[in-house]
Amino acid sequence: MIHGHGGNIYAAASALGCRLEEITDMSANINPLGPMPGLLAHLAESIGNVCRLPEVDAASAVHAYADWQDLPAEQVIAGGGTTEFLYLLPRALRLESALVVGPAYADYADALKINRVDPEFFMCTPEHGFRPDPDRLAAAARNADAVYFCNPNNPTGRLTAPGDLAALAGALPQTLFVVDESYLPFAAGPKKHTLARFDLPNTVVLHSLSKMHCIPGLRVGFCVAPAPLAQKIRQDCQPWSVSTPAQTAISYIAQNRETAGAHARKTRQSLDARRRDLYASLADTPGLDLYPSHATFVLMRAAFFTAPEIAARMLSRRILIRDCSNFRGLDEHYFRISLKDPDSNARAAQVIAEYARHRAAGRKPGKK
Ligand SMILES: Cc1ncc(COP(=O)(O)O)c(C=O)c1O
Repeated sequence: MIHGHGGNIYAAASALGCRLEEITDMSANINPLGPMPGLLAHLAESIGNVCRLPEVDAASAVHAYADWQDLPAEQVIAGGGTTEFLYLLPRALRLESALVVGPAYADYADALKINRVDPEFFMCTPEHGFRPDPDRLAAAARNADAVYFCNPNNPTGRLTAPGDLAALAGALPQTLFVVDESYLPFAAGPKKHTLARFDLPNTVVLHSLSKMHCIPGLRVGFCVAPAPLAQKIRQDCQPWSVSTPAQTAISYIAQNRETAGAHARKTRQSLDARRRDLYASLADTPGLDLYPSHATFVLMRAAFFTAPEIAARMLSRRILIRDCSNFRGLDEHYFRISLKDPDSNARAAQVIAEYARHRAAGRKPGKK
């Protein structure tokens, strides 16, 4: 397992000698509005079910999710977060080569390596707004067994139109596309916009409930694949990988889909406003670039200081951010903050702006 994830609030609390609640965690990308109304109360009421084994293949929860998302149940597999599928797919689908479109979530490469696949990388650059050039990507992808693509992308926040991705996958029928849509619900209604809607024979799509539904501790994710691929993937799944509370949560959300949909819409509206406020409050900050985002986080690059420096400064104020210097394709000046409530966002922006002004005084910007 790699140890470069964000969200290590436990280590931060231990280093600061404080309680978890005293830290504003802007490193983990979860819904700042919290879970949908009623979900936690329902889980609390049904906690007694942990004394029973869950359904071995989460069949009822799979049917509930498939019905909610209008997908054929034979194409849907439930797992312990999308992470379970990232680590299982290379083995289940016998991948021998893969191309990761980056800079991207590090677990794609790590999961491939654990499965003895040495990934190649197709790096998108800030000069082009981290947009992958479709022709160059198609040429690079031609010889790979699989292409890994995150949409919207972590850490850049960039959204690629699903139609563009479908066109790329359609043009390369011999290549498998593994498309991670963990953050798609923050950009658009996933039911309409998921790549799974395009019914392509060569795409495997990952959906996470951790992010929009704010239940990363439950570990719930789905893999949506064409039936023949889904059958192969199922053969390598572990029994009981979705716990009883996790299955309860899936069924509850699916049954209360209007409330879930309203909560997601409210989340998207509120994130739009919070992102706008953040961009406005940091607009005149010397040497700071903010990248446009369709997700719950914003990637930034500072010319006058490094990510470890600002991460340490923020931590001294009990704010945890994601130092992105260990993302392949980014340098030590990149960091990411996940939006929280307006006061926390304003406080974080103030610390960043003050630090940038302090470091900018009398210094020349570092190279990009
Ligand atoms: C892009 C991306 N994919 C997948 C995951 C894993 O999420 P899950 O909780 O569904 O395993 C993360 C977690 O941060 C992520 O950022």
